[in-house]
Amino acid sequence: MTGGRQPSVAELRPAADNRGMTAFPPGFVWGAATAAYQIEGAVNEDGRGESIWDRFSHTPGAIANGDTGDIACDHYHRWREDIALLQAIGVNAYRFSVAWPRILPAGRGAVNEAGLAFYDRLVDGLLAAGITPWITLYHWDLPQTLEDEGGWPNRETAVAFADYVRIVVDRLGDRVKHWITLNEPWCSSILGYERGEHAPGKRSTRLALRAAHTLLLAHGLATAVIRDRWPDARVGITQILTPAYPASDDPLDVAAAERYDAAYNRWYLDPVFGRGYPGEMRAWLRHDVPPTPSSDFDIIAAPIDFLGVNHYFPAYVAHDDFDPYLRLRRVIPKGAELTAMGWVVQPRAFSDLLQRLHRDYGPIDLVVTENGAAFPDTPPVAGRLADPARVRYLAGYLAEAARAIADGVPLKGYFVWSLLDNFEWAEGYAKRFGLYYTDYATQERTLKDSGRYYRAVVRAGAPLPATTPLD
Ligand code: FCB
Repeated sequence: MTGGRQPSVAELRPAADNRGMTAFPPGFVWGAATAAYQIEGAVNEDGRGESIWDRFSHTPGAIANGDTGDIACDHYHRWREDIALLQAIGVNAYRFSVAWPRILPAGRGAVNEAGLAFYDRLVDGLLAAGITPWITLYHWDLPQTLEDEGGWPNRETAVAFADYVRIVVDRLGDRVKHWITLNEPWCSSILGYERGEHAPGKRSTRLALRAAHTLLLAHGLATAVIRDRWPDARVGITQILTPAYPASDDPLDVAAAERYDAAYNRWYLDPVFGRGYPGEMRAWLRHDVPPTPSSDFDIIAAPIDFLGVNHYFPAYVAHDDFDPYLRLRRVIPKGAELTAMGWVVQPRAFSDLLQRLHRDYGPIDLVVTENGAAFPDTPPVAGRLADPARVRYLAGYLAEAARAIADGVPLKGYFVWSLLDNFEWAEGYAKRFGLYYTDYATQERTLKDSGRYYRAVVRAGAPLPATTPLD
């Protein structure tokens, strides 16, 4: 997503006071999101198989502080309590993922009934609490056995995924009507197979582009499976979308931002919308792009009902001859506010993104399936935790979401990342994104001020200033 002229950081700051901004429409989906490996723990219980994240997190040096998801938030045992946490903030939807290795411990073949039964209980508990389940079918925990057979670069993995999806939707589809096939195929492919920062820790552009292609194929096959089984289901895919602004007006930087957009956003969006891979990027990456029969693109372009948007920060992109892959680097503008992840806080980039998606890919319903921020929290005192930076982040981003809607963007829902602090992949437990603080020693959860703020927004159905009094 290139944004033309680079807006200054000052321009992109949220208005200090958002009062008077348009309310969110009736029926808006208000939610919070999590993912299986990040919260469940219980990795060896009830027949669950090994995933690539179990293997990777136990690899020395892979994760900050040597953390693993072995216990995480112990959600596998505390799911009832966690449903109560959702109720306490008043959301009407919950996005969570199903762990493939709980359902099919060896990736394919024998079905583990105990795994299905867990999600059965969770779905029933959510519905009883008046919360609509939104299920992500793949949030990065590939069964290790499938990785041993080549993982996502192997086309057979797409077939195995479709078989797994059939089993899950057959079991839950009578009650679950919102399905997200994949979470962020960019991360699975580039972070997992190109940069080695995520499981399975490979470092090869060739493998990464193969992985990306199989993932997109898997999305298309799974979409067809869900539609076939449950014609009334709503199906989408969640993409991580990072709008790219050139670091300066220099035409080299402008071209670098275009490349960033094509490689990281459009590579994953265009095929889903029936356009194949962006031609100029295909030419740039030529030796690394796998063979792609045109019938693949017909499968990948299966119509979807909504596009899931995960957005955290914009990229400022400069040309860089030393980067062998895309000849670019990200720069941090002077004066930019950063989260604990080092991500630039710029709410205006959010409405830019939503508008661009509507303009370039619409008509299509958009749902923000993740947005939020990590900041260094201090432990709660007497049941309270003030996290004003996260409150400001949410206030700024929600105001921009409302602005996009007022400008005609069909944004139908918003899920905060995350319900509670959890295992933040390569960063382990050091980075906290939750509306609830997790004390990992006691597994106690405490509502942060940002959770109180979000509860007030959900109640009001309108963006509220960060200075809103909190109860
Ligand atoms: C996204 C992931 C999610 C979480 C957030 C911070 O890329 O989908 O699991 O880690 O980043």
